[in-house]
Amino acid sequence: MIGEQDEAPGAEHEVADYDPRYPIVIEGLTNRFGTHAVHNELDLTVRRGEILGVVGGSGTGKSVLMRSIIGLQRPETGVIRVFGRDIVAAEPDEEIGVRSRWGVLFQGGALFSTLTVGENIEVPLKQFYPELDRELMHEIARFKTVMSGLPEEAASKYPSELSGGMKKRAGLARALALDPELLFLDEPTAGLDPIGAAKFDELTRNLTDTLGLTVFLITHDLDTLYAICDRIAVLADGKVIAVGTVPELLESEHPWIQEYFNGPRSRAAADSKQRSAENARRAIDNPPPGKA
Ligand SMILES: Nc1ncnc2c1ncn2[C@@H]1O[C@H](COP(=O)(O)OP(=O)(O)OP(=O)(O)O)[C@@H](O)[C@H]1O
Ligand SMILES: [Mg+2]
Repeated sequence: MIGEQDEAPGAEHEVADYDPRYPIVIEGLTNRFGTHAVHNELDLTVRRGEILGVVGGSGTGKSVLMRSIIGLQRPETGVIRVFGRDIVAAEPDEEIGVRSRWGVLFQGGALFSTLTVGENIEVPLKQFYPELDRELMHEIARFKTVMSGLPEEAASKYPSELSGGMKKRAGLARALALDPELLFLDEPTAGLDPIGAAKFDELTRNLTDTLGLTVFLITHDLDTLYAICDRIAVLADGKVIAVGTVPELLESEHPWIQEYFNGPRSRAAADSKQRSAENARRAIDNPPPGKA
C-alpha cells in the first residue's frame, strides 16, 4: 500500500532515542568565522517548558548560537538536535518537519517595513500553509495581534507607525503565528523603557505558561532574568560555562559570573524582584475591603 512506505518529511534526520523532556540538545558545537572561534565544543540542553535565559558579554556568540539552532548558521562541527531532528545534517530549506514548530523574534525585531503588522504575521502562515483560506489567515493574524497585547487595529498598521514596544509585540505575534512549541527571543526588551520591558516579560511568562511553550531567551536585561527565567545559561570563552538558577550560578567562581550577578545592577534587580514578591504576598494577606 502506498501510505505505508511513505516516510514523514525529514524522517531521515530523526533520532530514535529522542527524549521529549529535552527539545533542544547541543553537543560539541564549534562555530568559526575565519580564524575566530565563536563557539568551541559548546554543550547545552534545553528542558521542555522552561524559559532559559541566555547571557554573555557582547560578541560571545549568543545570536550565532540561536541561528545555529534554527539552521541558519551551519556550524563547523557539533550536533544540534531539535525535537530529536538533526539540524546540522539538514539543508537550510529542507523540510525536516520541525521548522514550523518554532517561532523566532530576531534581535532588532526585523519586521518587513513594507508590510502591515497583519501581513507580517501572515508571512510564516503563507510559507508553511499556502493553501490556507485568505479570510482565515487574516483572522489568525488578528488573533495573534491581540494575543500579543496589541489592539486589533494594529494589524492594519505599518511598523513605522508603531512605538518600539509595539514593534516588539508585533514581532512576537509573528513568532507565534504557527502556534509554535519553541520560542526564540533575541533581546526582546532591548530599547524598551523599564515599564514596557516589565510588561513584555509578563506577557512572555503568561504565554509560556498558558501555551506550554519552551523559550530560549537571549537577554542582557537583569530584571528579565530575575523576573521570568527558570534557568540561565552563561556563555563565555566559546562555551556554556554554567547553567542554573541565580543562586546556583553564584556558586561558580568564574569572574564574569561573579561580576555580572554580584554587581550593583544585579543586586538592584534581585531587590526589585523580592519587593514585588513581598507586595504580592501583602496583597493576598490584606485584600482590599470587599475582595476577601
Ligand atoms: N556572519 C558573520 N560573519 C562573520 N562574523 C560573524 C558573523 N556573525 C557573527 N559574527 C561574529 O561572531 C561573534 C558573535 O556574534 P553574535 O552576534 O552571536 O554575538 P552576541 O553574543 O549575540 O552579541 P550581542 O550581545 O552584542 O548581540 C562576533 O564576534 C561577531 O562579529
Ligand atoms: Mg546578539
